Amino acid sequence: MNSQVPEMSKQQASAVGQPFTRNDDACHDLSIRVRDLNLWYGKAQALNGLNIDLYQKNVTALIGPSGCGKSTFLRCLNRMNDLIPSVRIEGLVEMDGRDVNAAKMDEVALRRRVGMVFQKPNPFPKSIFENVAYAPRMHDIVSRKGEQEELVEKALRDAGLWNEVKDKLHEPGTSLSGGQQQRLCIARAIAVQPDVILMDEPTSALDPISTATIEDLMDKLKKQFTIITVTHNMQQAARVADYTAFFHLGEIIEYNDTKTLFSNPATKKAEDYITGRYG
Ligand SMILES: Nc1ncnc2c1ncn2[C@@H]1O[C@H](COP(=O)(O)OP(=O)(O)O)[C@@H](O)[C@H]1O
Ligand SMILES: [Mg+2]
Repeated sequence: MNSQVPEMSKQQASAVGQPFTRNDDACHDLSIRVRDLNLWYGKAQALNGLNIDLYQKNVTALIGPSGCGKSTFLRCLNRMNDLIPSVRIEGLVEMDGRDVNAAKMDEVALRRRVGMVFQKPNPFPKSIFENVAYAPRMHDIVSRKGEQEELVEKALRDAGLWNEVKDKLHEPGTSLSGGQQQRLCIARAIAVQPDVILMDEPTSALDPISTATIEDLMDKLKKQFTIITVTHNMQQAARVADYTAFFHLGEIIEYNDTKTLFSNPATKKAEDYITGRYG
């Protein structure tokens, strides 16, 4: 059931980063709060005054034409843009009330809490087991070998991959099919028990069956994790996301309950995009 946000106009809701319409089935505990976020690559501004509240244990989809800043925005959430020398960032990204860009923020700890899955599955050139066990060991989450085995099994089960790989854990991760490799990367991301998982077009390199498997998985994983995913597939956003944000030229044009955004978009730009008029 959708209900209008009663106390403010859509412009006001958007200005303070809240969705235009509410999804009453979704969790509304705040995970990430973004305020007046601007980002430049050298002189070129790629993100322009973004405001958005991202909620825990939801899937939030980011949609919009290529080059509109979706990946750049995702990278702001775990400070991966720090790795790009020309980047300058202004504004606030707060996770669980703490400023992600504060000098005292421990980046390694941050990236443990905010995992990432990329478009192209990128397992390490190591065994299936090691792909999952490596990060928990680095972060001292497990020490004993028995603990490691339990954790690897749990992560692979949660990623829906265990039954397919349990008899070949010591084969290379790269020997798996593309869809399996992507689930291995998801297992690797969840093995350190993050709060948030960022996914950048996680299924765009996969066949339809593997895509459907990952979509089902996202639906299960949101019970434990906050998922923020970029997709170019409108049906996918409609199927998996509780909320959807439409980006255009570095701005968030519309942030809305997914059903409403697709059935009754509030802005002409979002309507044109979802009906395939451009992008
Ligand atoms: N590393 C980079 N250096 C310079 N410009 C970049 C870099 N990455 C992205 N951009 C530019 O920033 C804008 C947003 O890109 P991006 O975030 O990749 O968009 P999207 O993911 O929506 O396709 C584009 O104009 C792109 O060319
Ligand atoms: Mg991108």
